[in-house]
Amino acid sequence: MTGPTLSSEYGSPDALRVRMATHDNYSERREDPTAAVLKALRLNGEETLADIGCGDGRFLAHLLERGHRGRIVGLDTSPGMVATVSRIPGAAAIVGDAEQLPFATAEFDRTTARHMLYHVPDPLRALHEFRRITKPGGAVVVAINLTESYARTQAVILERARAYGLAPIGELAFTVGPRTLPGLLRQVFPYTRIERFDDALVFDTPAPLIDFAEAMFSFCGIAADSPHRAAILEQITEDFEAWFAANPGQRWRDPKGFLIATAPVPG
Ligand SMILES: C[S@@+](CC[C@H](N)C(=O)[O-])C[C@H]1O[C@@H](n2cnc3c(N)ncnc32)[C@H](O)[C@@H]1O
Repeated sequence: MTGPTLSSEYGSPDALRVRMATHDNYSERREDPTAAVLKALRLNGEETLADIGCGDGRFLAHLLERGHRGRIVGLDTSPGMVATVSRIPGAAAIVGDAEQLPFATAEFDRTTARHMLYHVPDPLRALHEFRRITKPGGAVVVAINLTESYARTQAVILERARAYGLAPIGELAFTVGPRTLPGLLRQVFPYTRIERFDDALVFDTPAPLIDFAEAMFSFCGIAADSPHRAAILEQITEDFEAWFAANPGQRWRDPKGFLIATAPVPG
């Protein structure tokens, strides 16, 4: 048995996809991080763009669907994610680390890092790399989730995990948040605009909440091969079903949100 790790969590896109589908279907205000990143990027369709921590390549696919003509490339530490991207017609991605990017200085007009900076052990080093690979006159756009997102749902999982001696591990903790991101960016870029988007997940029934909670297990210290996983899943299922039974007509509401930071690279 091994604990959850960054590479086990992102070895395949499955859990990430459950979380993304939950955001698509159960967000209260439907604040759209992809739309917010696109607005910040101010693209004309010809730019070269690197998407760092590209995951399953959904952002690259979105750009291709919009008819983007410039070269776009994804990069991710997970070979499983990169293999998933390679199945998207027209998309390309490589395995690599944000702290040491295998790209030339000023290779791209835009660099994006969406929901990944908190996974990098040295985020400052990654930000220096993002600036290095971006052309003067270009821009770096970073999106992160608010640290306190889904705290209510996580509290239910964490309490059950704790009873088995399980706890979140450092490399899956959200180390970069609203309090730390501005200071990090200031050390690398002369000017940054940060926008905050507040939203919430809302559920009328327990089933999608339970699916989302299970997709959060790694972040609560529960590995895919934990001998306690099935018991914890059973217990949180009972917890959430009991809550809906005790609160008829009410919705489970869990605040969440994200920040979009736009950092122009001086020309
Ligand atoms: C939450 S997912 C976000 C994926 C994608 N950007 C999105 O928004 O759908 C985080 C991704 O960052 C990747 N990642 C984690 N640490 C990384 C690093 N040091 N360098 C590059 N990618 C990394 C993970 O493998 C994972 O695919």
